[in-house]
Amino acid sequence: AKPIEISPSMMCVDPLNFEAALRQVERVGVDMLHLDIMDGHFVPNMPMGLGIVEALHKATDLPLDVHLMVADNDFFVEQLAKMGVSQVSVHLESSKHLDRTLARIRELGMKAGVAINPGTSLAAIDYVLERIDYVLVMTVNPGYAGQAMTPASLRKIADCRDLLAFRGFDLPIQVDGNVSFENIPGMVAAGATNLVAGTSSLFHRSASLTDNKSRMLAAI
Ligand code: DX5
Ligand code: ZN
Repeated sequence: AKPIEISPSMMCVDPLNFEAALRQVERVGVDMLHLDIMDGHFVPNMPMGLGIVEALHKATDLPLDVHLMVADNDFFVEQLAKMGVSQVSVHLESSKHLDRTLARIRELGMKAGVAINPGTSLAAIDYVLERIDYVLVMTVNPGYAGQAMTPASLRKIADCRDLLAFRGFDLPIQVDGNVSFENIPGMVAAGATNLVAGTSSLFHRSASLTDNKSRMLAAI
């Protein structure tokens, strides 16, 4: 089986203690940093912008995993390429020319992902599989931390894994939203290989980062 990767959702840290939180995350050990870029249009929130991506690129060696939740993907993709980003996912729902945008992400030297909202069918990814390096299955409606997993999430992760296998693509599946200690076993069993860790796991208020990381590993 593929190793399970952990990508902490940095919008969950206290913005007034961002650097201290970054160092803690580095110490506890993670695979990449999940950066949610929202523009207030595609989703009704905007916790982090391009400035933080640029600052993180200078401050850490961890790969940057950007999740774009914006109306204008093409603008942000061009900007991110200049900031040393390793991988970027764009939403199916905000892409007019999805195939072209994905091709451009790779052309700029980044890994390309497609993110899919809970209510959107998986069918549309079938014809861009040749263009992508991973799929991001949203398990909450994007925009906010601390929401409950949407009901069909586990079924959808499994359907995504089946579709990939049927077409012969052994790609990572990232899951984002309420990736909790309780939900992780089901998500991994369904085929998730990259866990976006937010307030329901790594940044759970009840315990330290170290303890939360151990609890995550135990759930995998
Ligand atoms: C939105 C974010 C959130 C969040 C995940 O795209 O990535 O889903 O921070 O954390 P929790 O565990 O609070 O759902
Ligand atoms: Zn995200």
